[in-house]
Amino acid sequence: MEIFIDSADVKEIQEAWDMGVIDGVTTNPSLAAKTGRNYDETIKEIAKIVDGPISAETVSLDFAGMMKEAYHFAKMHKNIVVKIPMTEVGLRAVKQCASEGIKTNVTLTFSANQALLIAKAGGTYVSPFVGRFDDISEEGMQLIEHIRQIYDNYDFKTKILVASIRNPIHVRDAALIGADVATIPLSVIKQLTKHPLTDIGIQKFLEDWKKVPQ
Ligand code: E4P
Repeated sequence: MEIFIDSADVKEIQEAWDMGVIDGVTTNPSLAAKTGRNYDETIKEIAKIVDGPISAETVSLDFAGMMKEAYHFAKMHKNIVVKIPMTEVGLRAVKQCASEGIKTNVTLTFSANQALLIAKAGGTYVSPFVGRFDDISEEGMQLIEHIRQIYDNYDFKTKILVASIRNPIHVRDAALIGADVATIPLSVIKQLTKHPLTDIGIQKFLEDWKKVPQ
């Protein structure tokens, strides 16, 4: 499973990249707003740090506007993936982008049927939001299982990118189910590195090392 960092903060992205565990980046308008920076400048800076797919999100809801933003982002850097919301118009834009070789990530996906349509339209990635689904007492990870099964049934090539990840259990379950990608906030990536027995083990080795003649 690939790991993307879910952030528009270049310092966080640099830190995660330096850890050696990330393959790409996802951003969205809310993450961009937190930075207080110009979005285009941020995306260009991220592209200098990370050699992998970088999702830049469109905000137009009409076809012409979506495509204008798609072309704008696509020409910015070869690694840009255009993030498009899951709407009827969005599917049309996904099909158009696919026909022109522009990669897409369809965001705000909350049902297996939406994911089926995204694959039919030729989306490169589908982003089901597990955390926001859990928030309304639905089973976020069950949605991933359903999409995995449907895509495998018909050999769809669209990649399942598990989004809205809130904790390490989401990451483990995404990997067990066979998701293609998990996009993870830096705080959760750091949680993945931790285990109390690792810390206890290091402490014991350091104490015992003091007893070894130098
Ligand atoms: C990533 O592509 C999504 O926009 C993001 O994971 C949403 O996460 P949230 O539900 O925590 O805002």
